[in-house]
Amino acid sequence: MITKQNPRTAETNARLWGANAKDWAEIQEEGYRSVYIKAFDRVSIKPGTVYLDAGCGAGVAAQIAAERGARVTGLDATPNLLAIARRCVPNGDFQVGDLEQLPFPDKQFDLVTGFNSFQYAGNPEIALDEARRVSKTGAHVLIMVWGQPDGMEFTSLLAALRHLLPPSPPEAPGPFALSDEAALRAFATNAGLEPLDVFDINSPRRYPSLSVALRGLCSAANAIRAIENSSETAVNEAYTEALKPFRQSDGSYRIGATFRCLITRV
Ligand SMILES: C[S@@+](CC[C@H](N)C(=O)[O-])C[C@H]1O[C@@H](n2cnc3c(N)ncnc32)[C@H](O)[C@@H]1O
Repeated sequence: MITKQNPRTAETNARLWGANAKDWAEIQEEGYRSVYIKAFDRVSIKPGTVYLDAGCGAGVAAQIAAERGARVTGLDATPNLLAIARRCVPNGDFQVGDLEQLPFPDKQFDLVTGFNSFQYAGNPEIALDEARRVSKTGAHVLIMVWGQPDGMEFTSLLAALRHLLPPSPPEAPGPFALSDEAALRAFATNAGLEPLDVFDINSPRRYPSLSVALRGLCSAANAIRAIENSSETAVNEAYTEALKPFRQSDGSYRIGATFRCLITRV
């Protein structure tokens, strides 16, 4: 069961996720393109589907849904990412907002997704409840989180910054708080959603060089937080060390990563 965090973190998230928005969009989020495609293959999107991506980031998932004919709305706390999303999906409606207080009336959407987003809200349960509220009866809400940490190569990169981050309260949920299937299903049930299928998507992260890997990794909120708490040099050094086992003979990097999705029904 996920523990409640501090109330309202949209402002903090906007600062952290917005610091290196271009790198996040071009390196990290673009690298998830195949993950979104596989997730969308499991839910129905057809021309006219009224779709919300909650925590849409730079709009890569929204762009794929729009290509499949959906009428796209994206919401995110980070204006710098939304500016990129608007350029990628000119017909989309992208709004700055808080996952915990969606600026939409009840029962608007046929499909809502949260790709690695609900868990960043100050209170993820409120965020998911909001996703349920704005969905039509019978609509699907898709939740994506990190896969199980055991045996996942990317876990070591997430752990690499631990000593550079400010101490977090003991009850604070870690990045894998919802990766356990029972926890994920309970998260949905608590928000009044009916959990349906759970499935994993394997998607190794690939970087053509160390410098691109560092730019990509340093665009995520936890890296910015670590930089603020220590220094950019310290974060780059920690990541450089953690990346070593994943260096390929051509100088590129490949790090195994898995995402877990739960499809729910309203
Ligand atoms: C890991 S990124 C995921 C972005 C995108 N969905 C993707 O798959 O790349 C987390 C996103 O959640 C957004 N976010 C975090 N907390 C938020 C909140 N309380 N309200 C709105 N957006 C939030 C951040 O701005 C960021 O874009």
